[in-house]
Amino acid sequence: MTAHKHQMKTHQLFSVPLLEFDHPDAASLCPRLRSFFLARETEQYRDDISRDTQVGPLFESRFDLFYWKDPEIQPMVEFIHRSLARVVAELNRYDARQMSALRFNYHAWYHITREGGFQSMHNHPNASWSGIFCVDPGEPRDDPREGKVRMYDPRSNANMYMDPGCENLQSPFNFSSMEIQHESGKLWVFPSYLMHEIFPYFGARPRVIVAFNCWLTAPESPNTYQRTYS
Ligand SMILES: [Fe+2]
Repeated sequence: MTAHKHQMKTHQLFSVPLLEFDHPDAASLCPRLRSFFLARETEQYRDDISRDTQVGPLFESRFDLFYWKDPEIQPMVEFIHRSLARVVAELNRYDARQMSALRFNYHAWYHITREGGFQSMHNHPNASWSGIFCVDPGEPRDDPREGKVRMYDPRSNANMYMDPGCENLQSPFNFSSMEIQHESGKLWVFPSYLMHEIFPYFGARPRVIVAFNCWLTAPESPNTYQRTYS
């Protein structure tokens, strides 16, 4: 067969952004955060809604974490908020004026996972961006994948037909999932629609993770299509 050397342009149609940040002072920040959260693994701080995606010894705090005034958590909250603001600004190409009009509304909480805890597949409705910040990844007991986060390809129909023409497509065109291994001080930010799960964790050292959902509003832009009811 004659080799065809004419030009081929490859375009990337749809992409899922996944952003990675490292806290510059994780070595001193994370142990302090760990103590702070472990001391608050109590009923007073527990969220009172049980979720059927959460299984085993998994403590979930109230969702107002980013509004707590405790000085211990402020460097972390500031780091996460600044990181997300950068994601929003750069990916939407917003300038400083546009950014200053935005309001970031957060649900944020911490998870403490002990032996046998896991979370089945879910996404985070009613938010645009979600993120996970690792305070302590814990230490897997048997399998290095314990406690890993698996992100699923949102093109749910992309594997409707697999043959040699497509089954070896390389990244970013492969149909696949991606696994994230938590590291202390590392923040991952992803679109809230992305389905993900957390593998069962069996380590003796508690695994401590902070998570958030964010939805943004621009107060000076009223919805033209709103009506009141009276
Ligand atoms: Fe999640």
